[in-house]
Amino acid sequence: MSMSVDLSGKTALITGASRGIGAAVAKAYAKAGAHVVLMARTVGALEELDDEIQQAGGQATLIPQDLRDFEKLDMLGPALAEKFGGLDIFVGNAGMLGTLGPLAHSDAKKWQQVMDVNLNANYRLVRTLDPLLQASDAGRMIFTSSKLAQEPLAYWAAYCTSKAALEMMVKAYAAETEKTNMRANLVDPGIVDTAMIHEAFPGGYPGELLSCEDVVPAYLELASKDCKKHGAIVCVS
Ligand SMILES: NC(=O)c1ccc[n+]([C@@H]2O[C@H](COP(=O)([O-])OP(=O)(O)OC[C@H]3O[C@@H](n4cnc5c(N)ncnc54)[C@H](OP(=O)(O)O)[C@@H]3O)[C@@H](O)[C@H]2O)c1
Repeated sequence: MSMSVDLSGKTALITGASRGIGAAVAKAYAKAGAHVVLMARTVGALEELDDEIQQAGGQATLIPQDLRDFEKLDMLGPALAEKFGGLDIFVGNAGMLGTLGPLAHSDAKKWQQVMDVNLNANYRLVRTLDPLLQASDAGRMIFTSSKLAQEPLAYWAAYCTSKAALEMMVKAYAAETEKTNMRANLVDPGIVDTAMIHEAFPGGYPGELLSCEDVVPAYLELASKDCKKHGAIVCVS
């Protein structure tokens, strides 16, 4: 996998950009020349990332927003078209764990939240961004999945289910768009040292962790104009 991907002249929207994998991907895309549009709720963290990107000579725009605000999400495509004249790359990366525990005793509101952030927001974004990505000469959609989409884990039912559904949604969408210039794929990043893993394993993860930088090449490869993959899952480890 080459790190020398040129994204100059491209506009890239990245969700879950305030920290972890999304922030690392944002920095790498900006370094590769893309104008990055960063979405998450935590304004302070987005502003710090904006400073860092600008100091490194890059260009970023911030959209501080809760992904569960679907009415706002539905307006994003037309808003980006008006502001930037289009969009070339969409990284649907934001995600949440929910509460880990027995499914039969779980809270329905939490279940809904996990589905909304991990699956339904990505559906809304595909819908509103599709015309922009189709209009780009090399539109790219990349979604962050998980090994748990295919390996059910006790007490993680909401998370596993949401990622399994996300994978199927992206594969079905890829089948629909096979004849276009747009490519849509998923990344299974492995186990990465982020806030999410610390939340899941408060006593520390009992194994080796990848760094966010380790997973960046997969996102660069899938964003490049040379990407041929479509409906694929790229596994980092
Ligand atoms: N770390 C791993 O080992 C691992 C493994 C497999 C898959 N993944 C996946 O990788 C992706 C990134 O996770 P991460 O590990 O980098 O974890 P993280 O550091 O917890 O990042 C999660 C990101 O999602 C955003 N987010 C969560 N809920 C949101 C909401 N309602 N509205 C808008 N943004 C929201 C967060 O931003 P705000 O809180 O600022 O809104 C944050 O930027 C997720 O999809 C996760 O499922 C991670």
